[in-house]
Amino acid sequence: MIDPPFRPLALAAVERLTRYFDSLESRPVLARTAPGEVLARIPAEAPEEGEPWEAIERDLDGLIEPNLTHWQHPGYLAYFATTGSAPAIVGDFLAAGYNQVGILWRTSPVLTELEQGMVRWLIRLVGLPDSFDGQLADTASGGSLIALAAAREQAFPDVRKTGLASLPPGVVYCSELAHSSIDKACVVLGFGLSGLRKIPVDAEFRMDVGLLARAVAEDRARGLRPIAVVATAGTTTVTSVDPLPAVADLCEREGLWMHVDAAYAGSAASLPELRPLFSGWERADSVIFNPHKWMLVPLECTGLFFRRMERVRRAFSVVPNYLETPEGAAGVREYMDYGVQLGRRFRALKLWMMLRTFGAEGVRATIREHVALARRLREVIGSEPGVVLAAPTPFSVVAFRWAPAGLSPAEADGANRRILERINADGRTFISHATVEGRYTLRVAVGNARTGWKHLEAFLEAFRVGIAAESGSRRQDRSAGPARG
Ligand SMILES: Cc1ncc(COP(=O)(O)O)c(C=O)c1O
Repeated sequence: MIDPPFRPLALAAVERLTRYFDSLESRPVLARTAPGEVLARIPAEAPEEGEPWEAIERDLDGLIEPNLTHWQHPGYLAYFATTGSAPAIVGDFLAAGYNQVGILWRTSPVLTELEQGMVRWLIRLVGLPDSFDGQLADTASGGSLIALAAAREQAFPDVRKTGLASLPPGVVYCSELAHSSIDKACVVLGFGLSGLRKIPVDAEFRMDVGLLARAVAEDRARGLRPIAVVATAGTTTVTSVDPLPAVADLCEREGLWMHVDAAYAGSAASLPELRPLFSGWERADSVIFNPHKWMLVPLECTGLFFRRMERVRRAFSVVPNYLETPEGAAGVREYMDYGVQLGRRFRALKLWMMLRTFGAEGVRATIREHVALARRLREVIGSEPGVVLAAPTPFSVVAFRWAPAGLSPAEADGANRRILERINADGRTFISHATVEGRYTLRVAVGNARTGWKHLEAFLEAFRVGIAAESGSRRQDRSAGPARG
């Protein structure tokens, strides 16, 4: 038996994480690590003899923690900010301890059935119809791949046997703002990037459904086979929502699979005041959203829901003799039949513990607070001299750029790049960027449960310092006049 006793290690981890959470605000949010710096400190081979625990603890202090980017920091405002809340962290810890391997119902009845139960809770929480069913997938990327495989199965019922070679080329449609995971799914599923149509968006960054209808008609006329439309509810760059009812109408008319990617924003459908933004998703064939983005659980936890689960089963079920069981034959849920993975983690446990601790109202209150903070920030940013808001803020992301009169687009792009680097070097907050309408744009995403107005004020301070530095260097350039010689 090589296992050291569990209790002291676990208690040390609890102490460590408690210290870590308490120290967060004294750390720079974005790691100050140079590429390759960590790897250079990892020995080329595993130690031949086990090391004392103290040596590992020393490296957690000296190697691991200084090179973390602190997603749990209240100043984390980049990409989509997230929170690993205490009950969900403990849920993940327990899941690792129980070490359930969800291959079959019998290899963990509770993993299977708690997952079914959590799927029901999520469906009710965000107002999808009770007729939906689903699973907790790893990520939105992995989940959208599963959904589009089911769409492919619907369009080509023999594809499992024949492959794609003898079939007309399939086409998937999404807006030009859809997430790159849809590109990857098309690559993996054999449609290729030439089988993905990126439909332009309107002035509100929503897929233009007129252009979508035209693209579908043109593809049919060319002998191609339209398969699915991916509508995004909460695009990655600006969180716009595609016109879901119009996409649903088109999908019904054309017999296409409708997949709604609500990876970030879907959690907000738990708020009655925001649910109307999702109207139409109840008509989708599949819907995805990530509790690991905006519902207080750490990665990985993705709700993947289907109007007809049987379609997914037909796409994926392969049962070798050694995995046959009487329960399986009797029709019990075997999650291995609904995706690529055989073994699956006990993802439901952290979600169950989180929802029981905070209740649906706790989740709603957190999301509501984030939306309110983002709206307040938007008002302040919008009144800063020379700052332009780049898109609406339906949820908790504000997109903007410094673009005073007299600055060319290329100059403004450069200035905003430098402003972003300054803000992130300041260390109190970490923000990210996106290209919006061809312009380098700054993005603040509120999504960490610890974030309060004072953290957004820290961001504003750093932003103003960045603007002042840019204004100062422009003044200097002007007074130096044109270069001579
Ligand atoms: C709209 C959308 N879809 C999918 C993803 C991918 O999420 P995941 O990391 O869970 O694969 C993201 C990530 O930001 C996203 O914004």
